[in-house]
Amino acid sequence: MDIDTLIARYDRRVPRYTSYPTAPHFSDGIGAETAAAWLAALPGTASLSLYLHVPFCRTLCRFCGCHTSAVNTEAPLVTYAAALRTEIALAAQAIGKRLTVRQIHWGGGTPSILPAAELRAISDTIRRCFTLAPDAEIAIEIDPRRLPPDRLAALRDIGVTRASLGVQDFAPQVQETIGRRQSFAETAACAEALRGIGVGSINLDLVYGLPHQTDDGLRATLRQALTLAPERIAVFGYAHVPWMQRHQALIPEASLPDARARFRLREIAETEIAAAGYGAIGLDHFAKPGDGLARAAASGRLHRNFQGYTDDDADALIGLGASAISSLPQGYLQNAPRVPAYRAAVAAGRLPIARGVALDADDRLRRAAIEQVMCALRLDVDALLAAHGAAPEALDDVRPALAELATLGLVTWDGSRLAVPRAARPFLRAVAAAFDRYLEPAPARHAPAI
Ligand SMILES: C[S@@+](CC[C@H](N)C(=O)[O-])C[C@H]1O[C@@H](n2cnc3c(N)ncnc32)[C@H](O)[C@@H]1O
Repeated sequence: MDIDTLIARYDRRVPRYTSYPTAPHFSDGIGAETAAAWLAALPGTASLSLYLHVPFCRTLCRFCGCHTSAVNTEAPLVTYAAALRTEIALAAQAIGKRLTVRQIHWGGGTPSILPAAELRAISDTIRRCFTLAPDAEIAIEIDPRRLPPDRLAALRDIGVTRASLGVQDFAPQVQETIGRRQSFAETAACAEALRGIGVGSINLDLVYGLPHQTDDGLRATLRQALTLAPERIAVFGYAHVPWMQRHQALIPEASLPDARARFRLREIAETEIAAAGYGAIGLDHFAKPGDGLARAAASGRLHRNFQGYTDDDADALIGLGASAISSLPQGYLQNAPRVPAYRAAVAAGRLPIARGVALDADDRLRRAAIEQVMCALRLDVDALLAAHGAAPEALDDVRPALAELATLGLVTWDGSRLAVPRAARPFLRAVAAAFDRYLEPAPARHAPAI
């Protein structure tokens, strides 16, 4: 089948599978009480990963799909930081044991917007409540346009080892339309400053499918970005979801590349980045051969979580802050999405859980299948069924869909072993969707698959 027909057929809305079941299927039947029981059940040997969500930026970019809002004073940041510290203590108290943290991820929004003293105070609270592994990875998302010297010093003091810098595209017309002016020079200066304080891994986030983005413009952006020799590059497909993110309606639909153009832009990114010696990881990441993500991918230890691809294999991920999601052995928990409700719960001494989902055996089986497809691009269905002690027919509903994907060349499938060829990588989410038992009722909630 030719590529246009494939795009037409699979350019439907499917999730990015950073969890399974996906967030729209969480329910408010799961709250603080369940969360407390799940946290208390973590054994003393469990390793943790912490995700801290900071839902604030100085200005809002029109393309942004993240949970954030614009602030231009310090007061809401200071109050929010205090709530985060309280929530960390509440979570540690609910766990009731001193567990080891192997990874901390500060995400947003723009976590580097927090005042330097608040960054240090939150880091101190974590170290008081948990044992930080000596080789812990401490990652942070950064807006390269604003990183004043006091903030840089705080990042050094809290031990940041990895920084993700938002780049998107350097073309002026794209930047104008998405409301984010950012020169290559300021991006380079930020990367250099971070390397100067000993940050060993610089990651760049680019986006394809942006308004007015052209093949040549993206190629030029990539070539400039690659001169910074980042350890990792992510090239996300622009998710245009104005029904969820109302500010995206400021982007004229007519300025967006169509499905065919998006496909070509994605291909350009893959070609340019591969030519610079990076290996492709999963759906949208690239890493230098020696990088932790590349090593995890090569040895089958790659995982997918709410931050995308990771080599983090901690037993539990605890999400802290408004809208943050935790992944515990029993299921997922999501904090109150809006800051006032989040702060009120924490101030009352309650875990600020708004919803969640407890995993049943079928969820665990399909979650493992989807994670393997998204990470390894291959899966032995019969071996997975055996490993989960599942009935041999437990995934029989998926087999016809896989056979159909095979006739289209999007997978190879021998009745048990499934593999997604390199060329079909843009359709990876559509392959994973074959395993999703919840997908049909809610297809309109997600961005296009390519
Ligand atoms: C959580 S944001 C934080 C970035 C940081 N605030 C900054 O200003 O660079 C991380 C990245 O997600 C990506 N992103 C945000 N909105 C997106 C969207 N609607 N579609 C695809 N990627 C998006 C962008 O590459 C962005 O830099």
